[in-house]
Amino acid sequence: MNTLTITNNPIGFFDSGVGGLTVYSKFREILPNENCLYFGDTAHLPYGNKTKEELISYARFILDFFAKQNVKAVVIACNTSSSAAYETIKNDYDFKIFPIIQCCAKILSELPISRLGIFATPATIKSGVYESEIKKYNSQMQIYPQSCHNWVNIVESKGQNELNNIKVVKEDLLEMLKHTPDKIVLGCTHYPYLLPILSQYADEEMFIDPAVYFVKYIAEYLQEHKLLNNSIDFGYEKIYVSSNPAQFKIASEMFYKINTLPTLISESTINI
Ligand code: DGL
Repeated sequence: MNTLTITNNPIGFFDSGVGGLTVYSKFREILPNENCLYFGDTAHLPYGNKTKEELISYARFILDFFAKQNVKAVVIACNTSSSAAYETIKNDYDFKIFPIIQCCAKILSELPISRLGIFATPATIKSGVYESEIKKYNSQMQIYPQSCHNWVNIVESKGQNELNNIKVVKEDLLEMLKHTPDKIVLGCTHYPYLLPILSQYADEEMFIDPAVYFVKYIAEYLQEHKLLNNSIDFGYEKIYVSSNPAQFKIASEMFYKINTLPTLISESTINI
């Protein structure tokens, strides 16, 4: 690719749904003049109970879609896809791919703590990628991984105020607290939407949203590799979903205000 024009090219972000907006919104704050695409793969929600093969095929579909739009980089704003698909697809595209877990592991490993809890989806926990990535840098850290089975559905249905849902989140948290972790990583980009519940039962300082480290990592990489868009104008954004644009817009409100309905993309539209 021509480096003179590549800096104007968009960056693609994706997740199974609104979760990746917890990363995307922070990215827009620090680099508002980047052109961005966001894909919420809502037709395949939740990713957390899908097989590795399914997750690889969803990632390929989205990356092929982004490739057609000449992205200069893709951000996997999804822990589940980072854990299941990244290793397999990472060399198949001619743009940089940023996977959330692998990009944040070093900084997590350097936290001045010894006991780290990880809340994540069943697929992420099953992969063991959080532990293996953190242990590459710090084999001493005690890690307590825990699957949270219904949390993504709670967020996508905007059910954070329902008593049953509050009970589910509270019980999972109490289970984790038995390990007396120093900090708990919200290892699914949907989980920061549940902070109002979590912080009722533990100090909010206990929870780590890796998005903070992730966007800093991406920004530094883009700067070091001279990939930042130097335009002084606000970057454009285009938001896509694979089903139910209206529900996506409603569920996203807590983290990102979307003014127009996302564009619906399906296998048939992309192949036209
Ligand atoms: N938000 C995603 C993650 O970070 C996927 C959640 C899901 O769809 O299960 O893992």
